[in-house]
Amino acid sequence: MRDVIIACDFDSRQKTIDFLDKFEEKKPFVKIGMELFYAEGRPLVEQIKQRGHKIFLDLKLHDIPTTVKKAMAVLSAMDVDIVNLHASGTSAMMSAALEGLTRPDGSRPLLIAVTQLTSTSQEVMTNELLINENINEVVAKYAENAKKSGLDGVVCSPLEAGLVKQRCGKEFITVTPGIRFADGDVGDQKRVTTPEKAREIGTDFIVVGRPITAAENPVAAYERCVREFCL
Ligand code: C5P
Repeated sequence: MRDVIIACDFDSRQKTIDFLDKFEEKKPFVKIGMELFYAEGRPLVEQIKQRGHKIFLDLKLHDIPTTVKKAMAVLSAMDVDIVNLHASGTSAMMSAALEGLTRPDGSRPLLIAVTQLTSTSQEVMTNELLINENINEVVAKYAENAKKSGLDGVVCSPLEAGLVKQRCGKEFITVTPGIRFADGDVGDQKRVTTPEKAREIGTDFIVVGRPITAAENPVAAYERCVREFCL
């Protein structure tokens, strides 16, 4: 089940395909986020799927339940493997999303919830969002809300994945960005860990962007992640 997902944070189809071509017969799991989806939309999602990749469509929906339900119904037609939303949109929104995502034959992509973005600090949460609880408690509570609403897992910091598993059970999926090699640059990420440490914590998927996309040899960097995380 453990896998490495490459964050394809590119702004065009051409850059994305040139990047994926480097992997030749290998078909890594890829994440398509807002930048690439807003630039290239559904045709690129379908093209990448046809090449044989699994896709995490990271659009982080957050709106009134009816709107999210209808948007999820559109996304479910795209044959992607994972989609997501913000848990702060409420349990009603998450339940509606799940309904919208479920196809007439009962199948659907995995649906996961963003808890608190890893770019949000305790200070901002308390002073700006007026959420007084400890950030770990908020993440754990949002994960529990997601589980009760029938979702499959959450996106969280690797450092929170252990707590989420403890509160929601080990079958509840954790997808964790903020991964850096022990000898690599941290860049703008604040709370990072290595692929090896993420494996020890017990997370299911790591999302890795720049350590692979900006590497001199992206295929070797990807293989290193797989070695350290999956094996
Ligand atoms: O380049 P890097 O490895 O930092 O990329 C991480 C990816 O994960 C980016 O696409 C970023 O948008 C995404 N992400 C994140 N932190 C979150 C949620 C998503 O870094 N909390």
